[in-house]
Amino acid sequence: MRLKLVNCEPIQVDFLTGTLAGSGVDEMKRTLGELSGVFRDNTAWSVMDPAQVVYRVQRFRPVEEGVAGGLFWGTTFVQPGLVGDEYFMTKGHFHSLRDRSEFYLTIKGEGALILMDEHRKTRFEPMRPGSLHYVPGGHAHRVANTGSVILSALACWPSDAGHDYESVTNRGFSSRLRLVNGSPRLVEEP
Ligand SMILES: [Fe+2]
Repeated sequence: MRLKLVNCEPIQVDFLTGTLAGSGVDEMKRTLGELSGVFRDNTAWSVMDPAQVVYRVQRFRPVEEGVAGGLFWGTTFVQPGLVGDEYFMTKGHFHSLRDRSEFYLTIKGEGALILMDEHRKTRFEPMRPGSLHYVPGGHAHRVANTGSVILSALACWPSDAGHDYESVTNRGFSSRLRLVNGSPRLVEEP
């Protein structure tokens, strides 16, 4: 079967920033206001500027979302910052098709790829320019910025992986990445 191509014109990847450019690139962003309930410290969150952008995602999707056999490419840009003592981070998701995996390649900044397996065991891998991370199937994943500049990371994932945000919204990760005595540490949720 041949996949119907939506847009397969080559795009440009800026290796210094991770920025994608080209007609097939789209972009979404998430502000603090849109991330209600994501961070632990609701009091700290509620006095921050709701228009503050926490992260942006650029995507290049040459085939339709959900079809099997294609690949997607993207860049995630996470702003530096804290809500209370918790680092700015993405919402996090499982893939809707649980066995689908993904690559992350850090371009710029310092951060953490936070992974939670199906037994709710959470760990993180430090991200620095050039670090390449494999997200195995069955793992919820999110990216946090632990540095002082924008963290950017390229990603590649199967076009039928899908995003299950709901499971993370409902139960969260079992641990959170917090600033403890000057460095990032995973702290188990009570
Ligand atoms: Fe993913």
